[in-house]
Amino acid sequence: MLSLVGKMRIILIGLGVVGQAFLELLELEKTDLYGKYGLHPVVVAAADSSSMVYNPRGLDVPSLLRHKRSRGTLRGYPDEVLDIDLVRDVDAEVVVEVTPSNFKTGEPGISHIRAALQTGKHVITANKGPLAIEMPALVEMFQHKGLRLLFSGTVGGGTPFLRFVGKCLSGERIVSIRGVVNGTTNYILNRMEEGKSFQEALREAQEKGYAEADPSNDVDGWDSAAKLVILSNWAMDLGVTLKDVSVRGIRGVEITEDMLSRGKTVRLIASADESGLRVQPEEIDKRDPLVVPGALNAVSFTAEISGRHTLIGKGAGGRETAAALIRDLVELKLYLGGAEPCS
Ligand code: HSE
Repeated sequence: MLSLVGKMRIILIGLGVVGQAFLELLELEKTDLYGKYGLHPVVVAAADSSSMVYNPRGLDVPSLLRHKRSRGTLRGYPDEVLDIDLVRDVDAEVVVEVTPSNFKTGEPGISHIRAALQTGKHVITANKGPLAIEMPALVEMFQHKGLRLLFSGTVGGGTPFLRFVGKCLSGERIVSIRGVVNGTTNYILNRMEEGKSFQEALREAQEKGYAEADPSNDVDGWDSAAKLVILSNWAMDLGVTLKDVSVRGIRGVEITEDMLSRGKTVRLIASADESGLRVQPEEIDKRDPLVVPGALNAVSFTAEISGRHTLIGKGAGGRETAAALIRDLVELKLYLGGAEPCS
């Protein structure tokens, strides 16, 4: 098998901020990836929303990135192909799926992931939509086929919340999760504490690139709810989807002087415990570990014996999320190379 001699052929679907950062990091890290893990990634195909490129010997990544950045599209690139179903028709070990998250239908991500499954390819994704909508079924189908579905970039950008709870707290039952998992709303609430209006703060968050393509997914709580679904299925084995979460966003929230003088503030909290799954703005003590500045994320996992563990880190950003994709690639390589099974 090709992967056993080091090469891992990749089909990259989605060339937005995360997809481009992934290609950049692959180039930057390729010597280390080979030296440390024997991993030799070869991007054989890529697609953006307007076109597709394919070269069975491997695409020239720097030249592809230059083309995409200067023209804003893959159209016109020398390896451009038409009338081909990249995921189904191209031979590769793994599909990296990073199209925008759609919390209503999960598309086009769900179709790409299902096509990969049907054609025997592993999947690495940072797309929250498909998992929010059908994570229990997708996970079961991949397991059944002996394929890996890796998604550490879906929650927390580059911060390994899923790895942390999956690996560091293994052997213990997780009884509850409580977290701030949306960078945009956390940024907005922090700025509102400093006296900015909701609209001003949202505009700043968009300018800084934290917000989703449709920022109402951040503001109305859907991005947090999707991440809560992924976290709680992974850590608590709940078998839930987005429709199991009660969701309320931060529109209309006020942070008053009185609240601040009492040492309180408001944060958009995603929580899962025996009473259910919720995303809602909550008044919270300013000294709580979940009260983090800027666009940071923070998640507390409460384990049955060892208690509350809180991990804090950057939850958004193209490069950070791309780092999670690379991490998953390494995990996949270790798995294919006969190392211990990965998450
Ligand atoms: N819009 C998301 C956030 C990006 O603000 O957290 C990372 O998923």
